[in-house]
Amino acid sequence: MAKITYIEHDGTEHAIDVKTGLSVMEGAVKNNIPGIDADCGGACACATCHVYVDEEWVDKVGKPSAMEESMLDFAENVESNSRLSCQIKVSDELEGLIIRMPASQH
Ligand code: FES
Repeated sequence: MAKITYIEHDGTEHAIDVKTGLSVMEGAVKNNIPGIDADCGGACACATCHVYVDEEWVDKVGKPSAMEESMLDFAENVESNSRLSCQIKVSDELEGLIIRMPASQH
């Protein structure tokens, strides 16, 4: 379990306990947090689960895989801390993680 704070583009914060083994995307979708669409259901095939990892957390969360990198090309406004949230697995080490959602997923 890890507490993850999801911050919508308008600044609305949602602090949620997400079970270990779920993805950061699943934690949002299961809790009806707006801002992550996840059209492909987590298959790394849509880029509508794009999020920004808080700068303090970038090293701990790690780098995207080559496949994720190529999907990120389809997202808008990609930054150096961009990730696809379906590709971030929740673990106890991510307790306190802060994620920001982009203005739009399309
Ligand atoms: S849910 Fe489709 S790429 Fe993450």
